[in-house]
Amino acid sequence: MVLTGWSVGERYWGGYTQKARLQSRWLVPLPTGMDTKTAMAIGTAGFTAMLCVMALEEAGMTPGGDKPILVTGASGGVGSVAVALLAKLGYTVHAVSGRPETEGYLRELGAAGFVSREEMSQPPKPLEAQRWAGAVDTVGGTMLARVLAEIDYGGAVAACGLAGGADLPTTVMPFILRGVKLLGVDSVMCPLPRRRQAWERLVQDLPGNALQSIAHVASLEEVPQLAEDIIAGRVRGRVVVDPNAA
Ligand SMILES: NC(=O)c1ccc[n+]([C@@H]2O[C@H](COP(=O)([O-])OP(=O)(O)OC[C@H]3O[C@@H](n4cnc5c(N)ncnc54)[C@H](OP(=O)(O)O)[C@@H]3O)[C@@H](O)[C@H]2O)c1
Repeated sequence: MVLTGWSVGERYWGGYTQKARLQSRWLVPLPTGMDTKTAMAIGTAGFTAMLCVMALEEAGMTPGGDKPILVTGASGGVGSVAVALLAKLGYTVHAVSGRPETEGYLRELGAAGFVSREEMSQPPKPLEAQRWAGAVDTVGGTMLARVLAEIDYGGAVAACGLAGGADLPTTVMPFILRGVKLLGVDSVMCPLPRRRQAWERLVQDLPGNALQSIAHVASLEEVPQLAEDIIAGRVRGRVVVDPNAA
């Protein structure tokens, strides 16, 4: 079984326990072909990335268009998995990162282009040149405003994060003049049938070798230091905490 969300680790204790008493309705069967370590390497972040891709697909996005898909906060957990998924599905993916040293990593995951955080953090005009067919945004704030202003006519943005801020200093122009769609994505209270669908899709669409470069294992003792590193932007991809690891 897999458990993510439902406020476990937020409102309920026990995020790193080896045994837990849980609501059965929170659990998703581990999909055939996936082991528990892989499931936790994917985790909430990878699951959310899959939900973002599904939202874009439902909004009509298909691979093979003449403009790329943008992923912001690309070397984080959601961003890394989104890059790998979209590339595997045949999209041309461009990755936004504030860490130039992650360019090689992101290209290995399938990114065809690299855009600096600085460039995408400039406050936009209400409409900018139409650069992207769509986007997965994990950052929010001014970056999401710029992404919206640069989306192609009829395109869509799946917004799931606030790594750069919870505000959204945009205008209605992308929506009313270009028909741009802003798609909200939540993983925490996501209904069970959609969770099952997303986990099945992850087996099918996330390359195993991508996860090997995205995730590494740490022990419980490393968690306090890891927490500081994550806040300071020093952690790339995903970390699996193994309570049995020394
Ligand atoms: N809606 C949901 O259900 C849901 C689920 C999971 C996560 N989230 C949210 O989604 C976001 C990403 O989650 P995550 O697990 O991927 O986090 P993460 O691993 O910490 O990655 C966040 C990434 O955002 C970029 N970033 C950090 N600070 C930034 C800033 N001030 N301005 C611009 N970019 C910045 C960094 O990427 P670069 O170094 O590459 O720039 C960082 O690696 C978080 O806000 C998280 O709370 C939401």
